[in-house]
Amino acid sequence: MKKIISIVGARPQFIKHAPMQLELQKQFEAKTIHTGQHYDENMSAVFFDELGIPKPDYLFSVGGSKPQGEQTGIMMTEIEKVCMLENPHALLVYGDTNSTLAGALVATKMHIPIIHIEAGLRSFNREMPEEVNRIVADIFSYILFCPTDFAIENLKKEGITHNKIFKSGDVMCDMIKLIEPKVNRIIQENYYFVTIHRPYNTDNDERLKQILNTLNSLDKKVVFSIHPRTLSRLQSFNMKESDFKNIQFIRPVGYTESVSYQKFADCIITDSGGIQKEAYILKKKCITLRSETEWIETLDNGWNHLVFEKLEELKTLVHTEPGHYTENIYGNGHAAKEITDLIFQHL
Ligand code: UD1
Ligand code: UDP
Repeated sequence: MKKIISIVGARPQFIKHAPMQLELQKQFEAKTIHTGQHYDENMSAVFFDELGIPKPDYLFSVGGSKPQGEQTGIMMTEIEKVCMLENPHALLVYGDTNSTLAGALVATKMHIPIIHIEAGLRSFNREMPEEVNRIVADIFSYILFCPTDFAIENLKKEGITHNKIFKSGDVMCDMIKLIEPKVNRIIQENYYFVTIHRPYNTDNDERLKQILNTLNSLDKKVVFSIHPRTLSRLQSFNMKESDFKNIQFIRPVGYTESVSYQKFADCIITDSGGIQKEAYILKKKCITLRSETEWIETLDNGWNHLVFEKLEELKTLVHTEPGHYTENIYGNGHAAKEITDLIFQHL
C-alpha cells in the first residue's frame, strides 16, 4: 500500500480533510500532520471531534503570533523530520495557507510528489500571503485538483499544463452536502451572519472600526463569529464588543453550527474564502468585504458582491435579490472519492 501524508493546520483545512481522509484511508496508508497553525480548541479540536477525523499522527505547535517566515520555517523543519522518518510516496496539501506552503517546499526539496487540492485559484493580489502560497504549491505539484474550469484556465495562463491536472469539484461541497440535512435554525429573529479575518480588514484600527460601525448600523441584527485574529486586534485597539449594540459577537463555532447560521441568515457578509463558496452552495446571498475574489463564479447574477472601499453599499446590497442560480458549480458532492481514485491511478 502506498503512503500519503496529508498536511493540515488551519480551520478550513480540517473541513476539507474530513471527506478526503475518509476516502484516502480506503486505498492508502493515509497519515496526517497537523502543523498546529490553528490551535484553540474551537479552531481545531472541535472539527476533529465533530467530523470524525482520526487524530493526527503528528501534531506540532507553531501557533501564536509569529511573523510569516518564522511560522513557515518552524513548520518546514518539523515536516522535513517526519518525511525523513516516514518516506511517504506523496505529500498532500490543501488550499493556500502557510501550512500548505511549508508542506509544498519540503516535498519539493525532498523530491516527494505533491498533490494539491484546490489548485489553480487566484486572486491576482500578490500582497495576500495566500496568493504566494498557492502559486508556489501549484508550480511544484505533481497532481493538481482544480475545483472549476476557471482554475484550470489560470494554471494554463501560467504555463502549468501537464497531464496530471484534473477538474475535480470541491471537497468543501462534499462536506456541506453531508451536513446540510442536519442543520437547524439557532436564533429565531432575522439576522445577517458575519465572519471577518483577513489582515487588510483587521490589522488597521480605522478599517476595523469602519467595518464594525457599518455592521452596527444595519437594519437587522448581526451575528458575528469572531476569528481569534480579529478578537485580538479588537482588544489591542481598545475597542469593546459592547460598543456595537447591534452586533452579537460569538466565539468561533463548530462546523454544523457555522452552516446552520449561514443557512438561516438573511444575508452573509464575510471575507472568508470557504464561506463565499458555502453561501453559494446554500443558495444564500453573500457580500464579500474584499476587492477581488478567487471564487469568481459566485459573482454571477448577484449571488456574491464585492465591497471594499464603499462600505455604505452594504446597507442596500443586503436587500438585493440574486438572479439565476447555476446548480453544482462546485461539483456533485463526490469530489473526495473522485480525487482519491485519480490519485490511486496516477501516483
Ligand atoms: C490563516 C490563513 C488564512 C486562512 C485562515 C483561516 C495563512 C497565511 N493564513 O489566517 O489563509 O484564511 O487561517 O482561518 O496561512 N490565533 C489564535 N488561535 C488560533 C489560531 C490563530 O489565537 O487557534 C491567532 C494568533 O494570534 C495568530 C493569529 O490568530 O497570530 C493569526 O493566525 P494565523 O494562522 O497566522 O493566520 P490567520 O489569520 O488565522
Ligand atoms: N467556520 C466554522 N466556524 C466558524 C466560522 C467558520 O466552522 O465560526 C467554517 C466555515 O463554515 C467554513 C470554514 O470555517 O467551512 C471557513 O474557514 P475560514 O473562514 O477560517 O478560512 P478561509 O476559508 O477564508 O481560508
